[in-house]
Amino acid sequence: MKVSGHTRICGIIGDPIEHSISPVMQNAAFQALGLDYCYLPFRVESSALEQAIQGLRAMHFTGINVTLPHKVAVLTFLDEIDTMAENLGAVNTIVNDEGCLKGYNTDAAGFYQALTAEGVNPNGKNVTILGAGGAARAVSFMLVDKGARLTILNRDEGRARKLADSLMRLLRREVAVYSLQKKILKKILNDTEILVNTTSVGMMPQSGVSPLPDGLIKKGQVVFDIIYNPLKTQLLAEAEAEGAKTIGGLEMLVHQGAAAFELWTGCKAPLEAMRKAALEAMRLV
Ligand code: ATR
Repeated sequence: MKVSGHTRICGIIGDPIEHSISPVMQNAAFQALGLDYCYLPFRVESSALEQAIQGLRAMHFTGINVTLPHKVAVLTFLDEIDTMAENLGAVNTIVNDEGCLKGYNTDAAGFYQALTAEGVNPNGKNVTILGAGGAARAVSFMLVDKGARLTILNRDEGRARKLADSLMRLLRREVAVYSLQKKILKKILNDTEILVNTTSVGMMPQSGVSPLPDGLIKKGQVVFDIIYNPLKTQLLAEAEAEGAKTIGGLEMLVHQGAAAFELWTGCKAPLEAMRKAALEAMRLV
C-alpha cells in the first residue's frame, strides 16, 4: 500500500479493536481495485466517542465503521441516519459527505446480500430466528422488510417479545415469539424453511455446541449461522450432514464490509479479494 498526500482515510472505531478483521479485508479491497484509500483501526473509549466523531469531520475522513460498544451511542452525534439504521437503533457505517455525517447499518444489508448471493429469497418463506439480541434485531428487521414470515425463539422469551413489539410498532408486521424450548422447537422447525442462528451458542471458545437439539434439521431447509468463528459451527456441520443448504457467518461479515466499501468508494466491492483476506486474517486471530 502506497500512502500519499492524496490518500483518502477510512477506519473502524471500537473498544477493544485489536481483533477486528475489517482493516485487512478493506485494505485488500482497496488494493484489488487500485484505489488510493487506507483503512485503519482506532480504539475509542466511550467517553471519547463524541470527540472521535468530531475528528472525522475535522480531518476529512471518507468514512468509518463503528463496532462495539459504540453502535447505539453514535447515533446522537450524526447529522443524518438511514431508515434501516434508524429502525434498528444501531449504526455500523458512517459516510462523511463534506462534513455531513450519515449513519447506515450494513449488518442488516450484509445478512440479506449473503442470503440472496446463495440464491435464497426470504419473501413469503417461513423463517425462524434463534436469539433476540442486537444481531437478531438487524436480521429480523431485514427479513420482515423483505416479506418473510417470521418466528423468533429466544431463551429469554420476554426479550423476544420486546423485539416483536418493536417490529410491530415500526414495520406493522406481526411475528410469532416463543421461548427456546425443546418441545416448541420440534413443531416450529418442522415448518421452517430458513433457520437463522443469531445466538452466541457455538461461538469460539465453545465451538462444540449447537443451539438446537439433534435431529430437528431436514434436507431442503436453509440454515444460516451468523457466527464466523469457527467458520463451520456445530449447527452448520449438523445441517450439512442432513443435506440442508448452509451459509456461514463469514459471508455476512464479507457482505457487510462490501456494502460499506461501496458507500465510501462508489465502486462495486471485490468480494473474492475481501473473502480471501478475511479468511487469511482469521487464521491469525
Ligand atoms: P448480539 O448483539 O451479538 O446479538 P447479545 O445481544 O448479547 O449479542 O445477544 C446474544 C443472544 O444469544 C441472545 O439472544 C441470548 O439469549 P438471551 O436473550 O436469553 O440471553 C443468546 N444466548 C447466549 N447464550 C445462550 C445460551 N447459552 N443458550 C441460549 N441462548 C443464548
